[in-house]
Amino acid sequence: MKAEFWHERWEKGEIGFHQHEYNRYMQDFVDRLGVDTGDQILVPLCGKSLDMLWLAERGYQVIGIEISDRAVTDFFNENGLRCTIERKPGRNWYRGERIQILCADFFSVKKAELPPIDAIYDRASLIALPEEMRPVYVAHVGRLADRGITSLLVTLDYPQEEMRGPPFSVTPDEVRRLYGAQHECERLHSEDCLAREPRFRKKGLTRLHEHVFLLKKR
Ligand SMILES: C[S@@+](CC[C@H](N)C(=O)[O-])C[C@H]1O[C@@H](n2cnc3c(N)ncnc32)[C@H](O)[C@@H]1O
Repeated sequence: MKAEFWHERWEKGEIGFHQHEYNRYMQDFVDRLGVDTGDQILVPLCGKSLDMLWLAERGYQVIGIEISDRAVTDFFNENGLRCTIERKPGRNWYRGERIQILCADFFSVKKAELPPIDAIYDRASLIALPEEMRPVYVAHVGRLADRGITSLLVTLDYPQEEMRGPPFSVTPDEVRRLYGAQHECERLHSEDCLAREPRFRKKGLTRLHEHVFLLKKR
């Protein structure tokens, strides 16, 4: 998926991935991240996810990374949040009180540009990427995270031949293949969610599961 694809999705408002409620799995399992008030949670490929608000309201510092300025400005405007904007070629920092979003290509972001990260929250980020990009993404996440850092990862798993992504299907086996070498991988939850996803049923899916993983970097 090229940047253009995502810019077009944002401009046309084709953002079916955006949730209007806080993610239930995040709420159920955030404590498993082992983070304290004031800790920094990285949200890669964050879009305008409301989950960032929830995390900030819980007292965490949120650092999002997102390629679309449109998504980031929508996030601050729609939620009535003030921010300052620091503009540099290819990377704009939007800095709010507890939420900062770096608008840049995730793959170009260096660890030194970010505050020290305590945990990572990935919902609809890994699964937004085609198969060949997923190992590149996981390697890059690995470069930004120190040993001991925990991640909460939510994936979708469905018969890939029934629908073209994104979102792409990422099975629990693939999560273990991608993360296993550097992380302890614990599956926290799996759920059949086809019944409550009419947009995917309409696209012809006959099976759809969500999986939640806790990953701890060794
Ligand atoms: C499927 S959406 C998920 C957004 C968010 N995680 C959520 O739960 O709503 C994927 C997001 O990744 C952004 N994105 C895609 N490629 C990116 C890249 N290389 N760097 C930064 N953001 C990217 C897109 O603009 C889009 O907002």
